[in-house]
Amino acid sequence: METRSQWGTRAGFVLAAIGSAVGLGNIWRFPAEAYQNGGGAFFIPYLFALLTAGIPILILEFTMGHKYRGSAPLTYKRINPKSEFIGWWAVFVAFVISTYYSVIIAWAISYAVFSFNLSWGSETDAFLIGDYLKRTVNPGEFGSLVPGVLIPLIIVWVVVLGILFKGVKRGIEIANRIMIPTLLVMFLIIVVRAVTLPGALDGLEAFFKPDFSQIFSGQVWVAAYGQIFFSLSIAFAIMITYSSYLPKKSDITNNAFITGFANSSFELLAGIGVFAILGFMALQQGVGVDEVVEGGVGLAFIVFPAIINEFPAFNELFGFLFFASLVLAGLTSLMSISETYIAGLVDKFNISRTKAVLFGGGLAALISLVYATKGGLFFLDNVDYFINQFGVAVLGLVEVILIVWIFRKAKELRTHANAVSDIKLGSWWTVCLGIITPIVLGYMMYDSLKTNILRLHDTDTGNYEGLPDMFVLYAGWFVAIGVVVLGILLALIKWKKDPLSESQETNMKEAK
Ligand code: ALA
Repeated sequence: METRSQWGTRAGFVLAAIGSAVGLGNIWRFPAEAYQNGGGAFFIPYLFALLTAGIPILILEFTMGHKYRGSAPLTYKRINPKSEFIGWWAVFVAFVISTYYSVIIAWAISYAVFSFNLSWGSETDAFLIGDYLKRTVNPGEFGSLVPGVLIPLIIVWVVVLGILFKGVKRGIEIANRIMIPTLLVMFLIIVVRAVTLPGALDGLEAFFKPDFSQIFSGQVWVAAYGQIFFSLSIAFAIMITYSSYLPKKSDITNNAFITGFANSSFELLAGIGVFAILGFMALQQGVGVDEVVEGGVGLAFIVFPAIINEFPAFNELFGFLFFASLVLAGLTSLMSISETYIAGLVDKFNISRTKAVLFGGGLAALISLVYATKGGLFFLDNVDYFINQFGVAVLGLVEVILIVWIFRKAKELRTHANAVSDIKLGSWWTVCLGIITPIVLGYMMYDSLKTNILRLHDTDTGNYEGLPDMFVLYAGWFVAIGVVVLGILLALIKWKKDPLSESQETNMKEAK
């Protein structure tokens, strides 16, 4: 008898998968990555990464979840008992990401409130670092908790854990059904306004004009793959977990294409909106678009408030719409990131969903307090950089090599997907997974390791500001290696129920 939690409808699953994919990565990460890496020329590596790695891995993860019907550790265990630790490694990467992802959403909540009276003033840089984050300590020091961050952070966790507590169908599915359409409407309003601002065309030109001199740079390719993995929520346990809740009769391949293209369309929309607005800002200041562009934290929380100050009308409303969009996009992704460890705990320890949410979510919430301290930003930046480079990207590489070359499962999984899907997978899928992706990702890893080992001898390191060598070495590597060690330790613990039997599925009943 089928008793594992299930999505109520196909649309419910697709919306949840899109909700997971569309996140902070689309709104503030993508535009800056694209711009820094050659504008229009970035699209070639980006499209290549999307079509040869992103979508094939998304199809792979949907198929794995659907066929083996388990959280990432259980799925890997069912593929081969020796590979369980890969599942836990992915779960721990997701766990680490959830601890700081929640904090960025908390900042966005604060900024949505600040929008009402534009309380960031004209010095938006000093406001973020000094007035809001109170960064008064040195890198590596915690300092006390900052109440302005702590309060919205508590709200984020209460909302997300509350939704997860309700379960897959009555929690995650309903939340995505409400939040994703709302996000789309809000974001469309911003984009339409953005492209009609004076200077918008200059911004779009800067975004779309290809700089072909950069297309052969390894860094541009690294950035494109990194963006695709993070943005599609692949290689960190999420899509395996979500697809494990699919009913037996479900399309796989078509759903993966819909999810992948919807995510990239949203990303492109965000790029258009953000760059149109930056063009407007450049015109106001009489400078080139390249002088107003910043990535990551800076773009969303420093440049945007400054631009909102300059809007011709309804400044407060646009400020609110922008930060509220970040909040909604972030919340639907955070749900999926946290569901990975909740599902893992339920499967492995045979505990109720309620207990797993309280324990797993509670622990993540507790650790997220690190980033709500005065020195939190330094930790956040470093952990984000290392976990993406040596967590998500390495996992992607390990996943394809393991499935295609070590366990030789590509054919079996392809047959499984083809039996239920409208679009039939051909040998292109196996070639993408088994040959193209390992070659490109393998080279990227080599290049990135080299850069990061060299970085240790540099004085100007860190991706946000120059951070001292030792701090980068210890904080970054500690987390990147720590998640592998934790993965191995968890895999050594005995399962409470036989993981290879289907009766395991009865453990996933939704909290009543
Ligand atoms: N896929 C999520 C994002 O883009 C994690 O933010």
